[in-house]
Amino acid sequence: MNYIATPPEREISTAFALTFGETVRARRSFRAFLPDPVPQSVIHQVLEDAQFAPSNCNTQPWNTHIVSGNKRDELSQALLAAGEAGQTSADFSWDAGAFPDPYDDRRREQGKVYYGSLGIAREDEAGRARAGAMNLSFFGAPHAAFLFMPSIGDNVRVASDLGMYGQTFLLSLAAHGLGGVPQTVLGLHADTIRETLGLSRDLKLLFGILFGYPDETAQANCTRMDRAPLSASVTFHDD
Ligand SMILES: Cc1cc2nc3c(=O)[nH]c(=O)nc-3n(C[C@H](O)[C@H](O)[C@H](O)COP(=O)(O)O)c2cc1C
Repeated sequence: MNYIATPPEREISTAFALTFGETVRARRSFRAFLPDPVPQSVIHQVLEDAQFAPSNCNTQPWNTHIVSGNKRDELSQALLAAGEAGQTSADFSWDAGAFPDPYDDRRREQGKVYYGSLGIAREDEAGRARAGAMNLSFFGAPHAAFLFMPSIGDNVRVASDLGMYGQTFLLSLAAHGLGGVPQTVLGLHADTIRETLGLSRDLKLLFGILFGYPDETAQANCTRMDRAPLSASVTFHDD
């Protein structure tokens, strides 16, 4: 491995027309995409940007698998079949009922805003199930990135490194005029994804990121989630 701080052979992205503040705010979760594929050179730029994410002791524990074209269609079919059969195979647990307030409050608000934007009522279980299945058909996105990791200790430090990587990937998408959505739902189908991609069980799936050109006119993309004020999240200690 080359440990030169900034290897000269690395391509530096020149796509940054937005300021940092604009890029951070341009990133949001898109849940409807145009079918047009993203040029391979642009996907490479995004991956090069993400590679500069920080990690504990520079361990860079992310193992990223990009799925496009026929493989994307095959995988989506396998995921839809697993979903239909009620099969899940998560490497890491997800328990929506485990959140105390104020986190649960925010979780519920997100569901209300998203399903509301699709015109799906709270008690419409069939409608919610149909909307849930849209995660498995990739919301029409032409590409999916799967963020796998080695299992080390209690996995928390490794998972935080993958979170850093995921956000850098998402910000680079935004800077390139692309959109994405992180996907714990895809992380609930680790076996199906490993089997379809022929991957070792040693790689654990944390989450996926669907990406492509967002369909800005779609109902699913017409809302923006609000954030708590700084006072709810930050405490200054300076005396
Ligand atoms: C790790 C992670 C996993 C997520 N999983 C899903 C998912 O499975 N399905 C989905 O529709 N959104 C998913 N989201 C998107 C969140 O709902 C979204 O980030 C949040 O509501 C804030 O909205 P914003 O991204 O538009 O700012 C996930 C986000 C993160 C960070």
